[in-house]
Amino acid sequence: MLIIPNKKNIGAEIIVNLKNITNKDIFKIKEALNKYGMLYFKKQKLTSKSFIKFAKYFGKLANYPRLKGLNKKFPQITVVQRKSTDKGPSFGEQFHTDSIYTKKPPRFTMLFSKLVPKKGKANTEFSSQYLAYEDLPNSIRKKFKTIKGKYSSEGPISITTKERVKEKGKNIKELKSSHKIIKKISSKYSIYCSPGHFVGFSSKIKSQKKLKKFLFNHQIKKKFQFSLPWEKNQLAIWDNRSMLHQATPFKGNRIMHRITIK
Ligand SMILES: [Fe+2]
Repeated sequence: MLIIPNKKNIGAEIIVNLKNITNKDIFKIKEALNKYGMLYFKKQKLTSKSFIKFAKYFGKLANYPRLKGLNKKFPQITVVQRKSTDKGPSFGEQFHTDSIYTKKPPRFTMLFSKLVPKKGKANTEFSSQYLAYEDLPNSIRKKFKTIKGKYSSEGPISITTKERVKEKGKNIKELKSSHKIIKKISSKYSIYCSPGHFVGFSSKIKSQKKLKKFLFNHQIKKKFQFSLPWEKNQLAIWDNRSMLHQATPFKGNRIMHRITIK
C-alpha cells in the first residue's frame, strides 16, 4: 500500500486494491484519514456489497435523513445523480459539511463514482479546517472556543437539494441543530462550521455579521484547498469534522454512490 499526500497534506491518494486489504492496511488508512482529512482511491472494482463492507471498517453506517436508499438490499447507499438535462446547481454546490443540522452528524462520508461525464472532471473541492484553524490568530481562536453555530437543513445550500428531495425525498421537515465552532479531533483542532447550513451564532455576541463574514472567508481560503477530479470507479472518504467540501458545476451525466458513517 502506498500513501501519497497532496500538497500541504490536504488529503492524500492511497494506492491499494480495496478488495484485498489486511487489518494492517485498515489501521494505516484510518491513521491517514485522521492526518489528511480526505483520502481517495482510484481504479476500484467494488460491488455494493464490498463498498458497504469497506465502509463498515470506519464505524456504524448512518442513514441519510433526506434521501431514500439505493434499494431494499442496500438502504445505506444513497444515489447522488445528476443528468445532463438537470437545471440549476448540482447537489452540494457550496462549501459545507454533511448533515451538520442533525444532533450527531456523520463523521465520515464516502463517495464512489459509478458514472462520470466524458468532458471535465466534475471535481469535488475540499478545504482543510485543520489548516484553517492553525492559521487563526490567537484572539479569534479564543473567541470561537466558547461559541456555537446554529444550523438548518433549510440553510443557504438547501436550494441544491430541493430538486433531489422532491424526486426521492423522505424527510421533508426542517432539521435543526447547534455545534461548537472549534472541534478537537484526537490531538488536533479544526474549525467545524458549515457555511451552507449556517443560520446564526447561538450566543449573543458583538458584531455577528462581521464575525460571520470573517469566518466564512477564512475557512475557504485558496491555500487550504484541494480540488479532486473524478474518474469512474474512484472512491473518496473524508472526515466531515476536519474538511469542508463542495461540488463544482459540470455538464453531463454523473452517478455517485454515497455512504455516511456515524
Ligand atoms: Fe456534501
